[in-house]
Order: sequence, then structure tokens, then C-alpha cells
Amino acid sequence: MTHDLDRVRAHYSAAGLTERLRAALAALGPEEQRLTPEQLAGLDQFHTRGLAATAELAGLAGIGAGTLVLDVGSGLGGPARFLAATHGCRVTGVDLSEPFVEAARYLTERTGQSGRVTFEAASALALPFGDSHFDAVLLQHVAMNIADRPGLYREIRRVLKPGGRFATFDVVRKGGDPHYPVPWAPSQAESFLLTATETRERVEEAGFGMLVGQDDTDAATAWFARMRASGLPPQLNLGVVMGPGFAGLAANLGRSLAEGRLGVLTAIFEAIPGNE
Ligand SMILES: C[S@@+](CC[C@H](N)C(=O)[O-])C[C@H]1O[C@@H](n2cnc3c(N)ncnc32)[C@H](O)[C@@H]1O
Repeated sequence: MTHDLDRVRAHYSAAGLTERLRAALAALGPEEQRLTPEQLAGLDQFHTRGLAATAELAGLAGIGAGTLVLDVGSGLGGPARFLAATHGCRVTGVDLSEPFVEAARYLTERTGQSGRVTFEAASALALPFGDSHFDAVLLQHVAMNIADRPGLYREIRRVLKPGGRFATFDVVRKGGDPHYPVPWAPSQAESFLLTATETRERVEEAGFGMLVGQDDTDAATAWFARMRASGLPPQLNLGVVMGPGFAGLAANLGRSLAEGRLGVLTAIFEAIPGNE
């Protein structure tokens, strides 16, 4: 298990990330100039369909100004900043990768949101929070890196208040293995895909009831096709974070979706009271 986490951590090790971001963001203006979550979306929404997917997931989860949100596997913090800016809520992010957490804090200072949005380095399998703490938990394109799904969903259920919402948006197995490397994994050794049905079963076994379950594979496939057709990626893209080879990893995901090997699942669950 530790070995799995080490391999995943190594994939997101991103040496010198904050300095690379600082250099890339110089194109947008001087360091003291405040940035908006939208300006950063090309490089800080680390999942299929970018900002649109985060906005839809937050809407489905019913996130509002008073919602205390935990973003598990928060990456560069783009979803957390977008939620706080759009809905006025407070968001805490946790991520396995220390360089990502440092970069998330830096970007949050650049958007002037450090009072509402905070980040900690931690594993999703050992969340550093008490029981029944959050109103909503988000998990976007993270579960496929985690072998111990029962442990992951139990931990999310533990930190959610009874009746709280768990919003998950993840790549799922459909007709076969993906073409590796993909954005979350150089090889099968870092990738732990379940089908949509298996995902739902594992989540419900942890004390949740499903409120919404959507197959978003077509929307994701169309998004990759549009990206391919448009030619140039935005100037600030995930290549800044993951290196120049990232476009090839994204293309492999697009191809794996188009060939029916993989799918994309959006689902909202309610923490069933009495299961804590
Ligand atoms: C594809 S990125 C998605 C980031 C973010 N959720 C987003 O959508 O922008 C996957 C993230 O999950 C994190 N991650 C993977 N396994 C994790 C674990 N066991 N605990 C915490 N974070 C994890 C990685 O470090 C990485 O930042």
C-alpha cells in the first residue's frame, strides 16, 4: 500500500513547480497583480472538461455560501479557488503531493483568497480532520490513483456530517485498459480503475446513498475531440505543471475514451445519517 502511494507521489513530484508557475504567470502581469481563477484555469483544473466540469459538479452538489467544503486530492487548487470565488464558501484542500500543495498555496496568494481557501499535505486515506466536520467533499479525477477504495470512501464518510454531500467526478473502466501513459499514471502500476457500477457499490458500502449518477463519457470524448481540432493549446496549460510530454498523456486519455476503453462518471452521494 505504501508502495502504491510512493509511486503515485512520484508521478506528481513536479520539482521546482512553484518557480515554474511564477515564470509562466509573468506573461499575465507583474507578481503583485491579482489573478482570477478563470485566468489560471488552463493549468490548475487538472481534469477532463476543466472549469465547466467543476462548475457543474458544484451545482449538482448544491454548494452555497455556507457550505464547508473539503477537496480531496486538490492538486493545484483550481477547483477550490473557483468554488470559493463563485459561491463564497470556505474550502480546504488536501493532496498527497507536497510540491502541489506549495504551488496551490502560492496560486491562492496570487488570487488573494488565502483567507478562505487553505491546503494541507495529507493522504486521502488518513484525512487530518475530526469526524463529521464538512458539509461537502469533492473528489475530482483522484480515485483512479487509489487502490484502497473502501478505505478512501470510509474516510470521506467519516469527515462528512450526516446528510452531507459527496461529489465525485472520475475516470472509470469500461471496455478495456487505457493506452498508457495517461495523465494520472505512467503505467498500470499507479492506476486503479473501477467500473461505474463498482464505484457506486464501493461508495454505498461506506454509508452513502446515490442522489445523482451521470455517464459523462460523451461530453468528455467531445471535449478531447474539440481540443484536438483546435490545434494550439492555451498558453498556460498543464504542460507547465507536468512537463512538455503532457499533451501526449492527454491524447492517450482522449483516445482511450473514444475507443470505449474508459468512461467518465459524475455522481453525487448523501452521507446516510446513523452510519458514522
Ligand atoms: C489528476 S490530479 C486532480 C487534481 C484536482 N482534483 C483537480 O481536479 O484539479 C490528481 C491529484 O490527486 C492527488 N492524489 C493522488 N492520490 C492521492 C492520495 N492518496 N491522497 C491525496 N491526494 C492524492 C495527486 O497528488 C494529484 O494532485
